[in-house]
This record gives sequence, structure tokens and C-alpha cells, in this order.
Amino acid sequence: MASRATMERRAPAVPVQKDEDILAAAARLAGEDLCSISDLSSGEVRAIVKLGHDVKLNPREYRHALDAKQMVLMFEKASLRTRLAFETGINTMGGNAIFVDQTSSPLGEREAIADVARNVERWVDVMVLRTYAHDTITEMAVNSRVPVINALSDFEHPCQALADFMTLEEHFGSAAGLNFTYVGDGNNVCHSLMLTGAQLGANVAVATPRGYSPDIEIVTKAREIAELNGCEVKLTQDPQAAAENADAIYTDVCVSMGMEHESTKRAPIFRPFQVNEALMSKAASNGVFMHCLPARRNAEVTDAVLDGPQSIVFDQAENRMHAQKALLLLLLRGLPNVAKFSVLSS
Ligand code: CP
Ligand code: NVA
Repeated sequence: MASRATMERRAPAVPVQKDEDILAAAARLAGEDLCSISDLSSGEVRAIVKLGHDVKLNPREYRHALDAKQMVLMFEKASLRTRLAFETGINTMGGNAIFVDQTSSPLGEREAIADVARNVERWVDVMVLRTYAHDTITEMAVNSRVPVINALSDFEHPCQALADFMTLEEHFGSAAGLNFTYVGDGNNVCHSLMLTGAQLGANVAVATPRGYSPDIEIVTKAREIAELNGCEVKLTQDPQAAAENADAIYTDVCVSMGMEHESTKRAPIFRPFQVNEALMSKAASNGVFMHCLPARRNAEVTDAVLDGPQSIVFDQAENRMHAQKALLLLLLRGLPNVAKFSVLSS
């Protein structure tokens, strides 16, 4: 059975090989890092998402785009989606993935981060890091001659947000002008969603309990971007108000990896922020439910919503692979190896 996303996918207005955003991004992002969504311009965010749609529609065209490229994943935290989406992504474009489990040996403990970078860059073409400290990723990026990608830090989860807005475009045709609501902890996922939503012209409303609002620097940055793109970023402590007429309601766990010691304290604080059928009833009639996963069933979201007809969580999970393939293609100069982008080689 074709997925709902497959059935509803819209054809791009301009062929991707002639798309100004993609051509500009291919030139500017080659060899760059992705530590934060704020490393990208609005055009670059649009380019990654547009290329993600094309990779999804035409995977065979990209089969050899990254032939023999080597990617290392060094993860201090558990992962299902991010790891497998990167591994399948590069494997289906001719490259190879090497996974290094850092869960019992955080980066920087055995050896200085700069020294890790100066070794690893001699063997591989790209480093994908999942860390506790965001500074671990930025320090690796400063010291590495190959691109470094943030696969989740305590501060941001940019690959997640790119796939999520690709999923929204697939569902609604465009992200511009959508009312996007995030309910829950003002965490890493929330930060990247705020920046990405603002970059793509979506109105972003964030409802968190007092004391759990997103980082002020992210809020300021997202509002600056939103002003340029004619949209808004609003914060509230009222989930009902934030959900009113939303095109999408998104939530994440209230206890992120590394915060497990706060579980007992947080549970009652976040209870009024649960996404349940009553909250979903406030959304627009065609509104969708989103979650980065893994979900704590019947904690931040009820089974009825997670498994219900408005849920697009598994389309989001699938699109992690397509969006990450697009990102790798741009950072690793893969497009000139695709026949329709041969103009980039001349
Ligand atoms: N959403 C997400 O990043 O999932 P994983 O933690 O399984 O990679
Ligand atoms: N906020 C969650 C996201 C998991 C994909 C965490 O950091 O654990």
C-alpha cells in the first residue's frame, strides 16, 4: 500500500537541476559543517528540503552520487532513526558508514577532541556526531577539515527538523504560512524546529511549562529570521491557546536523554501539556500530529493520537533518510555525479 505521504506528494514547480536555491546551496555548502540550523540561510533550508523530495522521488538517479565516500557516526547516546537513516542513506548512494559507539566513552575523555578530528579526517569524508554537549560538535567542526554534522546534541537536532518540514511540505504543499505548534519541553528538537519553521515562513507557536521555555538566544534568532520571512514566533504557557487552529501539533518527550534524573520531578509539570484527543480537537480540521520519536506512550502523547488518523510520525521517520541524503549530497559535493546536475561540473 502506498503511504499517505507518497500519495499526497506534490510535483516541484521548477526542475531541481535548475532550482536557484539548490544551485546556490551546492556551491556554498560544499565542505561545510551543519552544527545548527542557524548555520543555514533560508534558501539553503529550502534547498535541502527540495532536494530531499527529489531524492525520495528518484532514488536511482542518486545511486552512485557518493561512490566510495566514507562516513563515520560517533554517538554518545542511543539512536534508532538517526543512525539507520544515515547508514541506509549513504549506502544507497554508493558510500559506506562506520559506526563508533561512544556511549561508554564520551568524546574528549580518552583523547582531546581536536586530536580526534585530526585523526578521523585522514580516513573519512564526513563525521556525524550525537553528543551531550553541543560544544563537542562545534569544537570538532572547528578542528576538522571534513564536514561535521550534528545528529543531536543537548541544544539542537537539525537533521530532525529538516525532515519534519520536508514532511509538512509533502502533506500541505508548502510550509510557508502554516500554523506550526510545538507543545512540551523547550529542548533540542524544539530549538531546531523553531529555527527551521522561521526559515521556511511558518508561524511557530511554542507552549511550554514555566521554567521549560526554549533558550532565549534561539528565540531571539528565530524571531529575527521570522521577521525577514513574514511569519511569527510566539511563546506561551497555555497549550490550549497554542493548539487553536494549528495545522500541525508537535510534541517530544519531556525527559530528554541525559535528563533521566529529572523524570519524577517533570512528570506532573508536563501532564497538562500532554497531546491527547481533546488538545487535537483544537487544531484545524485537517491538522496533523507530529513527534520526532521515540515516544513515551500515554505520557506526552496518548495512544489514540499517536496511532490516530492525524498522526504522520512514520512519514517523519521515513523522511529522515531522504532529507539526510540531500544534506550529504550538498556537503560532500555529490550533485555533479548525478547526470541531471552535470551543469555543476562545467
Ligand atoms: N528522532 C530521533 O532522532 O530518533 P533516534 O533517537 O532513534 O535517532
Ligand atoms: N529530545 C529528545 C529527542 C530524541 C530524538 C532527546 O534529546 O532525547
